[in-house]
Amino acid sequence: MSLGEIETPTLLVDLDAFENNLKQMVTDTIGTNTSIRPHSKAHKCPVIALRQISLGAAGICCQTVGEAEVMVKSGVSDVLVTNEVVDERKLRRLTALGKDATIGVCVDHPTGVKSLDDAAVANGTQIDVLIEVNVGGDRCGVDVGDSLLSIADQITRSRHLRFRGLQAYQGKAQHLRQYQERKAAIEHSTRIARSAVELLARHGTPCEIVSGGGTGTYPFEVGSGLYNEVQPGSYIFMDGDYQLNCHKTGAAGGCFQQSLFVYTQVISLPRRGTAVVDAGLKAMAFDSGMPTISDMPSVHYRGPSDEHGILDTGYAACGLELGAKLKLIPGHCDPTANLYDHYVVIRGDRVEAAWPITARGY
Ligand SMILES: Cc1ncc(COP(=O)(O)O)c(C=O)c1O
Repeated sequence: MSLGEIETPTLLVDLDAFENNLKQMVTDTIGTNTSIRPHSKAHKCPVIALRQISLGAAGICCQTVGEAEVMVKSGVSDVLVTNEVVDERKLRRLTALGKDATIGVCVDHPTGVKSLDDAAVANGTQIDVLIEVNVGGDRCGVDVGDSLLSIADQITRSRHLRFRGLQAYQGKAQHLRQYQERKAAIEHSTRIARSAVELLARHGTPCEIVSGGGTGTYPFEVGSGLYNEVQPGSYIFMDGDYQLNCHKTGAAGGCFQQSLFVYTQVISLPRRGTAVVDAGLKAMAFDSGMPTISDMPSVHYRGPSDEHGILDTGYAACGLELGAKLKLIPGHCDPTANLYDHYVVIRGDRVEAAWPITARGY
C-alpha cells in the first residue's frame, strides 16, 4: 500500500527516522557505564520495546501495571515500573509478574513498602525495589534524610523485596529550553542523588542502581559518574515540544529526527486563507500546544475542535487542495500515541507494517 491510500486521521511512524533515533541513543551510551532502559510510556507498543531490547537495552521502564503486564506477556523479561503503586489489587497484579520476569518498582513511603511486600509474599515472588528520591522534580519521592534510611532498612528486612538502589528522575528538567539550564538542573539532581547514595552507604546499604534521565537530559546523567541507567522515552519519536530544546550549539532540535506524525486530510476549503482538516482534539494531544505541519512552515494549525482542525493557509496560494493529505507533528508524543490502536509504519511512501499499541491500560 502507498501512504496516499491510508485513511485519516492515522498515526504514522517514519521507519528511517525512527531507526536513526534508536541507533543514535545506543551510540550516545557506548563506552559509558550507563545502560539504557527506555521508557515504554512513550510508545506503549511491545514491538518497539522488543526492538529496543534487541539493540542492547537493559530492560524496559513502564509507568503503569497495565503496561508492565503487556510487556511481560510479549516477552520483555526485565521491567521497572518507575512509579509508586499502592492499590492492593494492582500490587497483586504487579508482583504476580515476578513469576515470569524480573520486576522492579519504586517506593517512597513505608506503607507502600509493606503493601508491596505483602503482595509479593502472597504471590511467592521476589521484587526489585528502587527508592524514589526527590531530586528537584517535586513529584513523587522522599527527601534525603531519616525517612530514606528507614525505608531502605524496611526493604532490606522484607524477605520478598530486594533493595537495588535509587530512582532519581528529574522530570521538570527535560524541557528546559537552554542546554546550560538542563545541565545545571541535572548537576543539582546529581548532587542530591549522590548525597542519598552516600548516606545509605554510611548506613551499610549500598546502591547498585541509580536510574533517571529522559530525552532532554540523558547526556548529563550519562556523564555524571553516578547514574548507571537512563530512561529516555520520547527520543524514538520526538515531538513539537522537544524540537524546541536547544543544544550545545544554541540551535534548536538535535540529533533525533521527527518520526511520529498524525496523518490528516483537508476536508473543507471554506474561505480564502482557511483549510479544515480531519484531525482535532480526538486525534492528538494539545497540552504542549498546536501541531506544526511537516514541510509546510507557512501553514499554521490554528485550533482544534473534536474532529476538526482549522489551518491558516495564508492568502498566497499554498497549493492545498481538497483531499490533500498532510503530516502533522504533534506537540507531545506520549499522550498522542495513547489515542491510537496502532502505528502505521512507513518507509518513504510505502506502508511496511502496522504495530499494535496494546499497552494503554492501567
Ligand atoms: C519516570 C520517567 N522516566 C523517564 C521518562 C521519559 O522521558 P522522555 O519521554 O522525556 O524521554 C519519563 C517521562 O515522563 C518519566 O516519567
